Amino acid sequence: MLFLVTGAAGFIGSHLCERLLYDGHEVIGVDSFLDHYPRKVKENNVLNIIHNPNLQFVDGDLCDLSLSELLSGVDGVFHQAAIAGVRSSWGTLFDRYIKNNVLATQLLLEACMELDIKKFVYASSSSVYGDAQALPVTEQTPTAPISPYGVTKLAGEHLAHLYYKNYGLPVVSLRYFTIYGPRQRPDMGFHKFIYKTLKGEEIEIYGDGEQTRDFTYIDSAVEANISAFFNGIGGGVYNIGGGSRVRLIEAIGIIEDITGKKAKLKFVERQKGDAKHTFSDVSKAKKDFEYSPQLSLREGLERHCEWLEKNIELYDF
Ligand SMILES: NC(=O)c1ccc[n+]([C@@H]2O[C@H](COP(=O)([O-])OP(=O)(O)OC[C@H]3O[C@@H](n4cnc5c(N)ncnc54)[C@H](O)[C@@H]3O)[C@@H](O)[C@H]2O)c1
Repeated sequence: MLFLVTGAAGFIGSHLCERLLYDGHEVIGVDSFLDHYPRKVKENNVLNIIHNPNLQFVDGDLCDLSLSELLSGVDGVFHQAAIAGVRSSWGTLFDRYIKNNVLATQLLLEACMELDIKKFVYASSSSVYGDAQALPVTEQTPTAPISPYGVTKLAGEHLAHLYYKNYGLPVVSLRYFTIYGPRQRPDMGFHKFIYKTLKGEEIEIYGDGEQTRDFTYIDSAVEANISAFFNGIGGGVYNIGGGSRVRLIEAIGIIEDITGKKAKLKFVERQKGDAKHTFSDVSKAKKDFEYSPQLSLREGLERHCEWLEKNIELYDF
């Protein structure tokens, strides 16, 4: 089969491309190398696949490319491209969020509308829930984002749903809960915690460290995308979590244990837009496409730490 993966040089997109190629598919990967983290990191993300004859890599922006040409013959779309990150979505950079998260999504949906796309999988986010009143959240929990980023991810979901309702485009939205593992985005928590623990640098903890997160290993997110393509129900929205809920401070303890180094913690004010807790009920994904995250947090963190230790110079910026 032929797949389009957007955000192909990013953290999740690059793993997804790797897996699709491994499974024997052909892939068109597109990425605009947004500078929210260095290009060299993204180039490294695709180092293992860039010369694969079954990959056509397009260095370009979804808002500028001829999407109908890009989509010619494509069976399925995995739309991972976005500018991610909660904190930088406040302030003057919001136009980048509108362009890359909302406009790019609408242009892609519009271009897919008339084509024979078997499934359009949209990368949504747990941030659409904000500070949910009751945990774990199910897909029925009301959406109420508390960050501008969350607003744009929810807008993308709504747009996707409109194209499903009005034009029958079989769209599935996956609400990821904090994905981690090798190549995690450098602005994300675990990356920073591991990097700084290894380097002996101070780690800023926003709030008291008692916040909890549902951490999802990258392989589970990739598996969810592929299973959702084949068996997700058109128009469906699914929580994709790791199946366990851990306090941030506990996760740092595991990192200390794995690296054999003591983390230097500095507690600072909680950040606007950060949910206090996230915790997903994944039974809908389990029922519809047998989603079943397997790896324990400790095993996942062992892989993440090992990888980052080997590649640490790449992140000295
Ligand atoms: N990583 C997580 O824990 C997490 C959690 C929830 C949701 N998500 C969503 O998953 C997706 C992937 O996240 P990630 O962590 O891999 O982020 P990432 O920043 O590593 O990857 C996204 C890639 O998309 C590219 N991109 C952005 N706008 C583009 C455009 N207009 N045209 C072409 N390429 C463009 C960027 O250059 C980047 O390489 C995003 O949609 C994000 O919102 C991620």
